[in-house]
Amino acid sequence: MSDLKKHFEPKNFSDKIALSFTKFLRFLADTFFKKRYGHRAVVLETVAAVPGMVAGMLIHLKSLRKIEDDKGWIKTLLEEAENERMHLMTFVHIAKPTALERFIIMIAQFIFIVTYALIYIVSQRTAHRIVGYFEEEAVISYTEYLNELEAGTIPDQPAPEIAINYWNLPLHATLKDVVRVIRDDEAGHRDVNHTFANLINMNKNKEVINKNNKEKKENREEILD
Ligand SMILES: [Fe+2]
Ligand SMILES: [Fe+2]
Repeated sequence: MSDLKKHFEPKNFSDKIALSFTKFLRFLADTFFKKRYGHRAVVLETVAAVPGMVAGMLIHLKSLRKIEDDKGWIKTLLEEAENERMHLMTFVHIAKPTALERFIIMIAQFIFIVTYALIYIVSQRTAHRIVGYFEEEAVISYTEYLNELEAGTIPDQPAPEIAINYWNLPLHATLKDVVRVIRDDEAGHRDVNHTFANLINMNKNKEVINKNNKEKKENREEILD
């Protein structure tokens, strides 16, 4: 249960920006969707499948440019994008987006691709932290959805066939089971993206330490000269 409530405490300015950005978007989503969880899932999964693909592409291009290894990041990120797209393919069987929602999806994709790519180019660390926080919110939203399904306020229904095949669920699985496995996926993405942000942060700190040591060494040599 504790895994579902995991929260990364912001430690620096980059983390705080990522958290504020996430909270702002959460507020927008809560205001628009309220308790329409199926519709919320369809629209938000169209956005959720973007960062992995954008980040994967940018690292791919960087790997080509710098002729350096990606340490397995590209595959992980592209798999994340594919997994998020499967969430979308599943939820579209649960809720059909309205004409307004389809319009929002198109606008949101355009804005989000550009914004996320820019954030990624400016600060890779902030970009991964943002996804880490997005996924924390996704875990919370799917837990709320599951609570409504368990309470019966939202009627349960048979799991879509696509979900049964993709997650290898039993044939009698229901929407509740689907929401549980999807929530597990989101928790996995949360951990991966927070870890990526932590790794970048560690490298940045190392760079600062090395730079300071180098400067100190140069200063000492100047004094000795
Ligand atoms: Fe998702
Ligand atoms: Fe996600």
